[in-house]
Amino acid sequence: MPWKQLAQNGLAHLGYRLINTRSHYSHDGLHSLHHPHFLADPAFQAAYARGVSASHGHDPQIHWRVHVALWAARQALAIPGDFVECGVNAGFVSSAILHALAWNQPQRRFFLIDTFAGPAFNQYSPAENAVGRPNLARQSLASGAYVTDLARVHANFAEWPQARIVPGTVPEILPSIDSTEIAFVHIDMNCALPEREAFAHFWPLLSPGGIILFDDYVYYGHQANTAALDEVAASLDLKILALPTGQGLALKPGTGRSLPPALP
Ligand SMILES: C[S@@+](CC[C@H](N)C(=O)[O-])C[C@H]1O[C@@H](n2cnc3c(N)ncnc32)[C@H](O)[C@@H]1O
Repeated sequence: MPWKQLAQNGLAHLGYRLINTRSHYSHDGLHSLHHPHFLADPAFQAAYARGVSASHGHDPQIHWRVHVALWAARQALAIPGDFVECGVNAGFVSSAILHALAWNQPQRRFFLIDTFAGPAFNQYSPAENAVGRPNLARQSLASGAYVTDLARVHANFAEWPQARIVPGTVPEILPSIDSTEIAFVHIDMNCALPEREAFAHFWPLLSPGGIILFDDYVYYGHQANTAALDEVAASLDLKILALPTGQGLALKPGTGRSLPPALP
């Protein structure tokens, strides 16, 4: 009898059960026994592949984060307003969203805001400097992981006329976004100051039921983001949901639906 069977029998005799500890998902800092059924969904696969194509074939293995982003964006389709992404880079996540939602909505714009030249290095806080965030960003720029080719970005989004590419630095560029009704915001700049400012700017413009998805809310090495975003959330009397992917989710209350009666 193999040793594992022997061990299982012995433990079973003592009332224990050995479970399969092999992870079903192990990417992007997330190791889980749970079943990522969405990986087998052809619609998910096609949207994810569109993201990879935006990144010129580079696959960062962020399936679960993209799954969350696609879910949130789809929920926001039921809400009136434009979509926004702050921190677009080559357009991985936004291209996946536009593809998954088969974006063809003349009344709804998708604003895609980025410097398209990497971060504004003077925006890093002492805490971010201390954990080496500027060096990581310089490496991303030097390796081409942060795009600086605006023509490439325009070519990627050309199939969606309502995708508006907005080159500029957050927060200075934010007043140029001429939308007064927003349904969905994806914030992904890997830097606390512009993330905090974008959150504070877009929250009042968010429709009831609207969603803000933070890519780096509790992601490893982004404690400065967590603190900055929590500060804004506290000032708005709300809590951000920390997801095991490292993302954060904030929902604007007030859908107009009446609440069920309180439990006794
Ligand atoms: C992690 S990347 C975004 C990844 C992107 N969401 C995707 O789907 O691949 C971070 C981006 O934020 C941009 N960025 C950083 N600071 C910024 C700022 N203050 N204003 C505008 N863009 C900024 C960088 O240029 C970079 O492209």
